[in-house]
Amino acid sequence: MSYQAEYQASINQPEAFWGEKAQELDWFKLPKTMLAKDENGIDRWFVDGEMNTCHMALDYHVNTGRGDQVAIYYDSPVTNTKRAITYMELLDEVAQFAGALRAQGVGKGDRVLIYMPMIPQAAVAMLATARLGAVHSVVFGGFAAKELAVRIDDAAPKVIVSASCGIEVNRVIEYKPLLNKAIEIAEAKPAHTIIFQRPECKAEMQEGRDLDWETVAAAAEPTECVSVKATDPLYILYTSGTTGKPKGVVRDNGGHAVAMRYSMKAIYDMDPGDVFWAASDVGWVVGHSYIVYAPLLTGLSTILFEGKPVGTPDAGAFWRVCEEYGVKALFSAPTAFRAIRKTDPDSECLKPYNLEKLETIFMAGERLDPPTYHWVKDLLGLPVIDHWWQTETGWAICGNLKGVELKEPKAGSSTLPSPGFNVQILDDDGNELGPNEQGNVVVKLPMPPSCLPTVWEDFPRFKEGYLDQFPGYYTSGDGGYIDDDGYVFIMGRTDDVINVAGHRLSTGEMEEVIAGHPAVAECAVVGVNCGLKGQTPLGLVLLKDGVEIDEAQLQVELIASMREKIGAVASFKDARVVQRLPKTRSGKILRKIIRNIADGEPYVVPSTIDDPASLDEIAAVLGK
Ligand code: COA
Ligand code: AMP
Repeated sequence: MSYQAEYQASINQPEAFWGEKAQELDWFKLPKTMLAKDENGIDRWFVDGEMNTCHMALDYHVNTGRGDQVAIYYDSPVTNTKRAITYMELLDEVAQFAGALRAQGVGKGDRVLIYMPMIPQAAVAMLATARLGAVHSVVFGGFAAKELAVRIDDAAPKVIVSASCGIEVNRVIEYKPLLNKAIEIAEAKPAHTIIFQRPECKAEMQEGRDLDWETVAAAAEPTECVSVKATDPLYILYTSGTTGKPKGVVRDNGGHAVAMRYSMKAIYDMDPGDVFWAASDVGWVVGHSYIVYAPLLTGLSTILFEGKPVGTPDAGAFWRVCEEYGVKALFSAPTAFRAIRKTDPDSECLKPYNLEKLETIFMAGERLDPPTYHWVKDLLGLPVIDHWWQTETGWAICGNLKGVELKEPKAGSSTLPSPGFNVQILDDDGNELGPNEQGNVVVKLPMPPSCLPTVWEDFPRFKEGYLDQFPGYYTSGDGGYIDDDGYVFIMGRTDDVINVAGHRLSTGEMEEVIAGHPAVAECAVVGVNCGLKGQTPLGLVLLKDGVEIDEAQLQVELIASMREKIGAVASFKDARVVQRLPKTRSGKILRKIIRNIADGEPYVVPSTIDDPASLDEIAAVLGK
């Protein structure tokens, strides 16, 4: 099959194309209507299909003879633990834990918030929620109490599932105090929490509210799968937007399962029985899609790795895991490989390992810069595939389809649109741009299966944020261009979202934290280039008149406050006091120019600028 034939079929006859792909899965009722508009006028896939994602991911494989195959390899260098869990064992644990959730009153449509480190119980909780037709919302363990509280309030979960701690290299991070604080701040109090006690740290339990995982699981009756509609939500995953409030991206059951199953072969070239490793975290979309759902829906063995690319114990961790489990494809963020290169420039840590089973490296989460691309490609002598995607889509919008036809890659490009995604470049007035012209990267509607149909309980925000700017198109929020050969180059966000070490963060949210400091009158946060993390935040701060504060002290306080309110993942380490911020005459802060100055890039001073001298001051403060 050629890429062109596959892609054209998906664009010209989307219903026939996806209808055929849907048949790969074990539905309770196969859909007959592939695409229809919902009450908001949004295209929805497989509207009359009935199913259960957990059934497709576990029961189906056990019923068809895959019960003894390993479903999850848990590898935790931070606790010196390894565990291989077969499909049969995973099904038993999930059915049992689903029973425990049901005993706490969780049923179809109820939300379960999961705040967990990278342990198998995180996947068990996700699948158990899906088994009940309930909706999970996993919150990344690196987020602080306030971030967690915002998500609790938005999702209003009946139950929160958590663990006593996470382990960051050699630091034990107690989760329970963070969870307690979040519940205290939140207005939507959950009836119960279920806490998995890890041996590294025992959480104090609040009588009546907090339940012990082992106890409730042991007392529960295993449950069967609840049938849901394909359009019923499987999960909500919060992601950073331009405002301080994160957006609850909603994922439906049916479209998601079909896109996961399809992409696992078409993009990653994985067949049932293969071993796949997405070195990410279950708290991010990559973890949802390619640590948990897509591998299990396909009958693969997936790896849940509780460690880092460097420091656990060394820069050979990726290579050790690939050899030990016979990984066929490895997926991670470019920042992880930059960390390996920095720590082990001569690749000494690669030498002891035999990677003969490894066929392909996939990267996403941020732009794959050409030096990192070439370094990994030359080091391993394998195809390195950059693919571009977002929490909103759940799978790659552009990539190089290893399972269909591998195209000649171009460094800096995520290659060609994935089937179903009609990618275009528009100028700010909505005109289509020609080859090599940079503009807004958009997708012509309808979007393929798995893309978000709304923002959780906020359709106006979905419409305004994604559909209103260019009617008939989904606005990705990324800028870029398509070259003469149709290759797509994603150059970065056009909004206030930044990517720090593959973590998506909102500068708007960071500005809210800084503005909360009593000495601060106004501020601007921008993402500046970083050779390791891709981008890191820089805060420029304007003090209130008459305030006298030592700049070093202010910096310490702002950094502490960012860690407390957003979390250490914000990597906020640089705040500078300035006398004024560059603004347009209408008062809009010129963040892009601040970024250009910080990165030492050329820029054009807009005619609308209010105070051009403010730019010189910023350059001086930043030593540029
Ligand atoms: N729980 C608590 N704290 C966490 C955390 C978690 N789950 N994840 C990260 N943190 C903390 C880190 O310990 C660090 O704290 P510190 O400032 O006290 O040292 C801080 O947040 C910043 O983390 P990070 O930016 O991730 O830096 P790092 O040095 O810990 O690791 C990488 C660097 C490159 C190894 C790591 O960022 C990585 O693997 N990134 C890939 C991300 C990814 O998978 N993205 C998904 C797309 S594929
Ligand atoms: P997230 O929703 O966390 O997956 O982040 C999505 C954003 O990350 C996108 O909108 C892009 O800005 C960026 N991104 C992800 N993958 C790539 C890639 N392969 N190339 C360039 N940017 C990427």
